[in-house]
Amino acid sequence: GRCETSRREDSMSMSSRVPVLAIDGPSGTGKGTVGSHIAKTRGWHLLDSGALYRAFAFAANEQGIAPDDIEGINALDRETEFAFETTVSGEVEIRVNGREVSMRVRGEQGGRLASMYAAVPAVRSRLIKHQRSRRQDPGLVADGRDMGTVVFPDATLKIFLTASPEIRAQRRYNQLKSKDFDVTLRGLEAQIAERDQQDASRAVAPLVAASDAVVIDTSRRGIGEIVEEVDGLLSIRLRDYD
Ligand code: DC
Repeated sequence: GRCETSRREDSMSMSSRVPVLAIDGPSGTGKGTVGSHIAKTRGWHLLDSGALYRAFAFAANEQGIAPDDIEGINALDRETEFAFETTVSGEVEIRVNGREVSMRVRGEQGGRLASMYAAVPAVRSRLIKHQRSRRQDPGLVADGRDMGTVVFPDATLKIFLTASPEIRAQRRYNQLKSKDFDVTLRGLEAQIAERDQQDASRAVAPLVAASDAVVIDTSRRGIGEIVEEVDGLLSIRLRDYD
């Protein structure tokens, strides 16, 4: 009824006062690293939306729910609790109904599954509320593919990171190797290219820079430099934020 609606509008306009730093881009551009650094130094919340898509796809796949099974998708969302906890080292631990599944979803297989389910409109619309609910004081750093375009269109600052395919594959390789995944550089190059193509070409919320995003190529620059630039831009925006 009307009362419901106006109450919802109130809480939305209140949460939209909470500043958001949206960082989008394909895999291996440094979104996660840059985002977790800034969240940590500012004491802001961190939303790794890719982890949410990975966890959701993992649970759906495990329960044999096909991407086009809308009833199944809705039921899964109602019955499953997805929890994310940032450890001291800045890693995000992923739990599905209390079960720790980080290692099971972090690899490229997990990425492929996530990308497949992420193309389904019903999945995206179910996951939007989880993502928006993370917008809490004193601020939120959100990384993903559609943070600036769809989930937080009024973000305080939108960043879109890019890097050459070779460098992105090398970064993913180092990252996965350090977590003891069995990967090859050649294999990753192909898998990342395929996933980006799928993410960029889907009809709903494709991977694309928001028209008001600041695009930064991270190919030839160190992570510290990028963090400094993004954090500096954020400070400027926050000064005018009221
Ligand atoms: O960021 P990541 O590599 O962990 O994301 C895994 C997949 O999840 C990615 O290939 C597409 C999907 N995804 C998405 O569609 N939208 C997001 N905001 C984040 C991830």
